[in-house]
Amino acid sequence: MQTANKKCINPDCGLTFDISTGNYLCTCGYLLDVQYHNLPKRELIDRFYERRDHGGNIYDESGVWRFRDLINFVNIDCEDFTQCASYLVSLDGSEGRLSKPYKMSKVAEYADIDIDSLLLQPEGYNPSGSFKDNGMSTAVTHAKMLKIRNLICASTGNTSASAAMYAANERMSCSVYIPKGEVAPGKLGQAFQFGAHVIEVNGNFDVALFTSLKAARENGGYTVNSVNPFRIEGQKTMIYRVLESLDWSPPDWIFYPGGALGNTASCGKCLMELYKWGWIKKIPRLVVVNSEGANSFYELVNGHFEGKKLSWNNGRPDLIMINRYYEFNDARGKVPKTQATAIQIGRPANIIKALRALDFTNGLVVQVNDREMADGMSIVGLNGFDCEMASGAVPAAVKKLRQEEVIEKDDVVVGILTGRQKDPQLVVNYHLDSNNRFANPPSKA
Ligand code: F0G
Repeated sequence: MQTANKKCINPDCGLTFDISTGNYLCTCGYLLDVQYHNLPKRELIDRFYERRDHGGNIYDESGVWRFRDLINFVNIDCEDFTQCASYLVSLDGSEGRLSKPYKMSKVAEYADIDIDSLLLQPEGYNPSGSFKDNGMSTAVTHAKMLKIRNLICASTGNTSASAAMYAANERMSCSVYIPKGEVAPGKLGQAFQFGAHVIEVNGNFDVALFTSLKAARENGGYTVNSVNPFRIEGQKTMIYRVLESLDWSPPDWIFYPGGALGNTASCGKCLMELYKWGWIKKIPRLVVVNSEGANSFYELVNGHFEGKKLSWNNGRPDLIMINRYYEFNDARGKVPKTQATAIQIGRPANIIKALRALDFTNGLVVQVNDREMADGMSIVGLNGFDCEMASGAVPAAVKKLRQEEVIEKDDVVVGILTGRQKDPQLVVNYHLDSNNRFANPPSKA
């Protein structure tokens, strides 16, 4: 008997699909969730902890698959190594293995929050250097289940790096659609090096996503963008690791940079499930941080368009308004533009799931500018951790919400630093300009 299926998130539809089907959209046009039929027992918490002493079992070593009982859409016996090895895709146990929350005292000082209150989780410690590996391992597991051997995605650079890495390791092929000239060199280099077929699109990420989805429909191929519900499943493990480090006592706040809003969607689903199962009693508030130059979600949610705040509205968000907003931007030639190219996105594909997440967590959407993100990235560096500019949005937003007294000095705040630095020239330029707050220019001999 199957233990999971896919379910449309539209409450007026709710259509279900077998787990072995390949569609990511319902016939009504909404995205799908993976839905589990079993109620997991809270005693699993002890098992997850014990698996950290992995004894060479890569599925225990992996920070994703250590929690496999909670994302068991394949329906395996999680204690049977042979079954794990036959079905679960892992880069030798490395995904999510090193990323856990760290205290960073200088970031805490910078943001004016208690040193013990701020926990930042560097997902750049993943094998391809970003949080994407959490969800890619699960998505590629599903592709393997369906026996599809060509992966396809659009990307601002990290998704393509991760997809290409897993494809290479699984001897699959991989096609990546990227916005020409808008991808950090370190990310583009990874796609080439891992042997992906790189297709440059004249246009931004939104155009690249449209083009790649069309190509997958017409020519076949397994889409690994975050519209894929199996990506969302793997990304939940970031929050499991956070909660494990806090003895499963939820923080007050969780911050993410927002682009296509896959993380937002995933965090929301993760918390909804844990709450439903009775594993957590308190719901942390989610903060999504947009770049000022790519702020569709910020504008829509905060009523900056037509003076009406977009909301989940019990599963009936104003889709017409979202389309009007996109058309309005197109008509005036507004395209997303930010130095944080990872989140240079105008039409976040997971917007509806993200609205659900905000609704469930009483969340907020804020925006920060490029200078603030660069400072955020640099203060993380001064703690001995590196992250990319999009991730710098997190410390910048914590600081902003502290200044506005939205969060208290002793609130427990978790921030996900989504990726490591792959744009070294951007960093060098920052440090050569002594006007920058944390500039560290070289001296002359
Ligand atoms: N941070 C980094 C480093 C990213 O690469 C991305 C997204 C995000 C944040 C935003 O996350 O989409 O879940 O809201 N990068 C995608 C890519 C779009 O193609 O690599 P999100």
